[in-house]
Amino acid sequence: MTKDYRLAVQLVGVVKRYADINAVDHVNLGVKEGEIFGLLGPNGSGKSTLLKMILALVKPDVGSASVLGINAEENPVAIKAQTGYVPEVPRLYEFLTGIEYLDFTADLYGVSTTEKRERINEYLEALELEGREDDMISAYSLGMKQKIALISALVHKPKLLLLDEPLGGLDPRSARIIKDLLRELASEGTTTIMSTHILEIAQAMCDRVAIMYRGKLLATGNMKELREKARLPGSNLEEIFLSLTGTSDIKDVVEALMK
Ligand SMILES: Nc1ncnc2c1ncn2[C@@H]1O[C@H](COP(=O)(O)OP(=O)(O)OP(=O)(O)O)[C@@H](O)[C@H]1O
Ligand SMILES: [Mg+2]
Repeated sequence: MTKDYRLAVQLVGVVKRYADINAVDHVNLGVKEGEIFGLLGPNGSGKSTLLKMILALVKPDVGSASVLGINAEENPVAIKAQTGYVPEVPRLYEFLTGIEYLDFTADLYGVSTTEKRERINEYLEALELEGREDDMISAYSLGMKQKIALISALVHKPKLLLLDEPLGGLDPRSARIIKDLLRELASEGTTTIMSTHILEIAQAMCDRVAIMYRGKLLATGNMKELREKARLPGSNLEEIFLSLTGTSDIKDVVEALMK
C-alpha cells in the first residue's frame, strides 16, 4: 500500500492494564505528520495513559509503538528528546522565575543560547506573558502556569507535541491564541496530539479525533465522519457524544475557538 503522508505516531495493538483495569485496551492508531489530533473521551477513558505511552513514559504490556519513526521500546530517550509534553497537572519549579524555568528547560534539551533567547521571547510575547517573566512561578495564576508549561514544551522545537487537556484554566482569549499557535506549528510540520473530554473543543481545534471509551478507540475520523458514524443503527457513539457534551462554563472558550 502506498501512502502520500508519513505517520508521526503508529500504535499497533497496545494494551496497558492496572490491576483489573484496562486503561488502554488493544488500541491501533496512526497520526499523520502535521496533524492536530484529538483524543476525546470521558474521565478515566485512558487518554492520559495513551499520551504517556506515546511519550514512552508508560510501556505497553502488549503491542508496539513507533513514534517519529522510532521504536518506543528500543529507544525511549530519542522519542522524549524530540517531543514536547504538557501533563494534565504540570509540575513546575515554583521557586524559580518564569524565565529561569524556561532557560533551565531549554538547557536540558541542549538548545543553543541564541535560539533559546529568540524562541522564549517569541513565545512569551505570543502568549502575552511579557513583563511577567521575572516573577516567581509561585506568584503566577493557573493560566500563566499553563502557558509557561506550554512554552517549556516548545523551547526545543519538538516534532511532536503531546498536550493533556491543554485548555484547563485558560480564558477564551488565551485558548484562541493557543489554537492559532498550534495551527501555525502544524503548517510547519509539527504534529500535535491533545486530549480533551469536551466535544466542542475537539471540534474547534482538531483535524481528526479519536473517541476513547473504557480504554478502547471506538471511532476515528474528522467530526463530520464521526457524526455520521454516531447516527448508524447499533452504534453507541450517540451515547458517548451525550456523555461528552460540554458544560456551560466552557461556553465562552468554545465560542472564542469557533471564531
Ligand atoms: N498509575 C496508575 N495506577 C493505577 N491505575 C491507573 C494509573 N493510571 C491510570 N490508571 C487507571 O486507568 C484508567 C485510565 O486513566 P487515565 O488517566 O488514562 O484516563 P483519562 O482519560 O486521562 O481520564 P481524565 O479525563 O479523568 O484525565 C483509569 O481507570 C485510571 O484509574
Ligand atoms: Mg487524563
